[in-house]
Amino acid sequence: MSTWAIVVAAGSGSRFGGPKQYEPLAGRRVLDWSVRAAADACDGVVLVVPDERRYDPEPAATVVVPGGDTRSASVRCGLAAVPPHADVIVVHDAARPLATAALFNAAIDAVHAGADGAVCAVSVTDTIKRVADGRVAETLDRRRLVSVQTPQAFNAAVLRQAHAGSEDATDDAALVEAAGGRVIVVPGDPYNFKVTNPDDIVVAAALLERR
Ligand code: CTP
Ligand code: MG
Repeated sequence: MSTWAIVVAAGSGSRFGGPKQYEPLAGRRVLDWSVRAAADACDGVVLVVPDERRYDPEPAATVVVPGGDTRSASVRCGLAAVPPHADVIVVHDAARPLATAALFNAAIDAVHAGADGAVCAVSVTDTIKRVADGRVAETLDRRRLVSVQTPQAFNAAVLRQAHAGSEDATDDAALVEAAGGRVIVVPGDPYNFKVTNPDDIVVAAALLERR
């Protein structure tokens, strides 16, 4: 079995105020943590970067390619560079530097066991409400909800088929689900949050320095 990772790092970080994946974090950059975890668990890593960074040396990645205008488009740019013999493909956000190789392996193992896809997820601790026009329309049953992260592992053929069109979704599993695929939930890590706002770097640094 050959397992490849696509680490998407081509976003602009509008909520952060700049390309957060290149911020220094505990002695490396945010994306270095993400790429290293992917490289520890996979046979190769395709790193998808902003167009102006496409010639930057990235020795921890196997291949570097420029991304697209949306996250899904960037995943498709990465997919085009994954060798055809790969049978499992893991997609990971560069902006999740706290993901461990063990988390990658948990998702990969579920695909080896026969799932079309496997996502890392944690239970929801807040109460979640659906809102319409500024008013609460419904309170959802928290026990039936999970908060989904990356890494997300897929059977390579299933992921390629799900991305055959040009749909946009906030994660890859949504495209596989829409195509009728069976996506398994594996335990994620509450600390595997996505760096989104500037203060998230402070929290991530404190956690990584304690490792
Ligand atoms: N990403 C990407 N290509 C895009 C958009 C996002 O590769 N066109 C990547 C980001 O670099 C990040 C991951 O997808 O690693 C998750 O996206 P998100 O957290 O939304 O990052 P940004 O889109 O950069 O941030 P924002 O939405 O605040 O602009
Ligand atoms: Mg975004």
